[in-house]
Amino acid sequence: MELAKLQRLGRSGSLDIALGIPPGDPPAAVVEAAVSALRKGRHQYADTAGLSELRAVIAADALRTHGVVVDPDTEITVTVGATEALLTALLTVTDPGDEVLLFEPYFELYPGIVELAGAVPRFVRLEAPDWRLTEEALTRVLSPRTRAVVLNTPHNPTGRVFDAQELDLLMNLCQERGIACVTDEVYDCTVFDGRRHLSPLAMPGARPTSVIVGSLSKKAQMTGWRIGYCIADPEMTEVLRRIHEHTTVGTNHPLQSGASALKASDVLDGRALFQDRRDELVAGLSSLGFTVRPPEGGWFVFAGTEALGWPARTLSRRLAESAGVLVAPGSPFFQRPEDGDRWIRTTFVRGAETTRAALDRIAAFLAAEAPPSG
Ligand SMILES: Cc1ncc(COP(=O)(O)O)c(C=O)c1O
Repeated sequence: MELAKLQRLGRSGSLDIALGIPPGDPPAAVVEAAVSALRKGRHQYADTAGLSELRAVIAADALRTHGVVVDPDTEITVTVGATEALLTALLTVTDPGDEVLLFEPYFELYPGIVELAGAVPRFVRLEAPDWRLTEEALTRVLSPRTRAVVLNTPHNPTGRVFDAQELDLLMNLCQERGIACVTDEVYDCTVFDGRRHLSPLAMPGARPTSVIVGSLSKKAQMTGWRIGYCIADPEMTEVLRRIHEHTTVGTNHPLQSGASALKASDVLDGRALFQDRRDELVAGLSSLGFTVRPPEGGWFVFAGTEALGWPARTLSRRLAESAGVLVAPGSPFFQRPEDGDRWIRTTFVRGAETTRAALDRIAAFLAAEAPPSG
């Protein structure tokens, strides 16, 4: 992984604005509930679908986020993070050799997860600067073997929050062609500028063929607890649960008990926390000459390096070696590394001071070092 190499290159004291690590810890009461579960002897297998009290917490969150009633008994499965949820969903909706549409640029784990499920990734190109989903791009890669599509909204890395027109287009196509939609909504708690996060969950016609993937990693600041979930209609959930049981037997019991203590007010309010920091990072990168489209949601700013004359991989390496700043090069988000060599991904979630200090270091570096010629 390119980023791991950069981390090794980075000197001590490097400022990491590459990775989406939450800025804080889970609420103290939630940590206490997990400790207490261990002390009370919750050491053995839990219900493989997930603790019923945790599924109730997830159903309440879905009601707040989407205004939709979800039955925790028959429609929610607790998984080992969104990562397992994605694999389980794809194993549920595809057979070996089926084709799965991925929007490029994509979250870097997607192609591997599709292949692990025995399916074949097919890439739908989103084009800068708007990264919009178009009918033309979609229909170009459709084939009789297309069985599923993975939609990530809010989107990592571009920051798109796909709008009603785009969602309608995709869902109509899915319904016409019998294609399942897996939506990765791990950043649903972070949408900017008064926009709304939209999900197939709230589209009655789309629900029977959709699997909504969510996670407590970002919304409860617990990436290491490895708690995610799938929401799907009861028929789909039966199959999901069989696969989930055969792959993991379920998520760990004591941390599920802890997470069950989450209250509505504990869910990270990404807009309140990050809107100003997003604005600051967008303004800072733009003033340094990067090409930036303000992200509509999610945790990242995807910034173009072409106007600066720097290939993104070289710039990321030199920033790590010389400026002590870690940014993610764009190549892992594209099939062909050269397509990503015009982009870096940065995050504003690491705190205002880190963001400002990183911008200062990048400014000093760009003033001191000329881009490679040719
Ligand atoms: C778009 C996206 N999906 C899934 C994940 C993985 O989430 P989890 O920690 O719940 O496995 C991440 C993590 O960064 C992500 O950015």
